[in-house]
Order: sequence, then C-alpha cells, then structure tokens
Amino acid sequence: MSRWTLDDIPWERFDASKVDADLLAVAKAASLVERNGGDYATYLCNVFADDPEMQAAARAWGLEEIQHGMALGRWAKRADPAYDFEGAFARFAAVIKLPLDAVDSVRGSRAGELVARCMVEVGTSSYYTALADQAEEPVFKAICRKIAADELRHYKLFYTHLDRYVAREGLGFWGRLKVAAGRITESEDDELAFAYHAANENGAYDHARSNRAYVRRAYSVYRRPHIERGLAMAFKAIGLDPRGRLHRVATSLAWTYIRTRSRHLARAAA
Ligand SMILES: [Fe+2]
Ligand SMILES: [Fe+2]
Repeated sequence: MSRWTLDDIPWERFDASKVDADLLAVAKAASLVERNGGDYATYLCNVFADDPEMQAAARAWGLEEIQHGMALGRWAKRADPAYDFEGAFARFAAVIKLPLDAVDSVRGSRAGELVARCMVEVGTSSYYTALADQAEEPVFKAICRKIAADELRHYKLFYTHLDRYVAREGLGFWGRLKVAAGRITESEDDELAFAYHAANENGAYDHARSNRAYVRRAYSVYRRPHIERGLAMAFKAIGLDPRGRLHRVATSLAWTYIRTRSRHLARAAA
C-alpha cells in the first residue's frame, strides 16, 4: 500500500513561471517508464512463482511505480497542457515490451534479479533526489521528494529479499558484480531513450540522437553527493564496503565521467 496518493501532492502551489524546460522533458520521459511498472510486477510474480511473500511485495511495489508515473504525468500536463500523456504512453508501451512469459529471471538467477532491482532503485532514488534538489517549481520538487523516498524504500525491500536469496541460492561477489555492472550499463539502452522520444519528439526514432538528448538533460542534475550516496548503496548490494577506499575511487571516476559527458553533450548541443 502506497504511503501517499495523488491527493497528497500540493497541486495548488504550482508555479508555471518556475518550470524548467529541460526538467519538464525528462519528467515526461520518466512518467512513461514509471507507469509501465505494472508489467514489471507481473514479470517478477512469474520469476518468484512459488514465493507468495515476494509476489505480494512485487505487486505493491508495481502499484507504487505506476503512481510515480501518474504523478509525473499529471504534473507534466499542468506544465504543458499540450502533453498527450496517454498517447505518449501508448507509443512507449507498444515498443518497450517486457518478457512477460519468462518463468526464469533474465539475470540468470533470482538473486541476480534482486541485484538488478537494487541497482535500478539505487539509480532512481539518486536521480529523483538530484531532480528535487535542482527543481525550483514547488510541485515538481514535492513530487520528486516523495518518489525519491519510495525508491529508497524499494531498494531496502529488494535488498532484504536479496539477502534471503543469496543465503538460499548463493551468488558470490563476482556474480553480483556482473549483474550489477550489466544493469548499470543498460541504463543507456532503449528504454529511457525511447521514453524520451515517445514523450518529447515527433518523427522517426533515432536511438543515438534521443539518447544524447535524454542523457544531456538527465546527467546535468547530478552533483557529487548524489553519486557518492548512490554508489554506497550499490556497493552494499554487491557485497563491498560502502565506506571504503574503493568506494571513494569509484565515486571520483563516476563523478568525472558524468560531469565530462554532461558538459560534452551540452557543448555539442549549443
Ligand atoms: Fe519509481
Ligand atoms: Fe522504485
């Protein structure tokens, strides 16, 4: 059961003069990906077919993800009344299809599936925190804060089940690292770029162009503390020390990469 509803959002505080066009574009993309959460819950229920506890958690989680999409979609329509949320979602869902008939995790094991889920929640929790910190429009800021808190809870939820499955199935450090690295590199695959396209662009889809447009806007909101905290959570899920020297080195490398890529894309677009 979600801790909040769309009625808890202070819609009356909406201030059109504080809407940032780049944040609006990424909010529209996020509204589509989040709204697709129901399909992912179905997939998780198939993968954890004999685990009613995990299935119940997955169904509740899926409803919260859908609510994230509805909140962002409603806000995007306030900011841009021409935004066709329903039409954009239909375009997105027609192309981005999850393996709903899979009975085994696409990550090779249930523990692997949970590592991948932890990575996604690490990513979303850091991203919405960064968006909330960057945003000046009060309603968008409030929505991002609520979503970021949910994503952190989702991380904890999957981490708890991960612990259980690592004890049961066993998945060593290298196995976890492989899944985590695979899931992180997928963040620039089709789902987000296509969501950006379906929500913001007309004409034919060009993955490289839409990906650049999305990444330029999304990466620009991050600051070093967001990366530092996100990597600490990722390290914990992999089984590494979240406060060690390796974490500091990884934070420096990741922060340099994000800042350099973001500046490079901004220059190229200018
Ligand atoms: Fe979400
Ligand atoms: Fe989440």
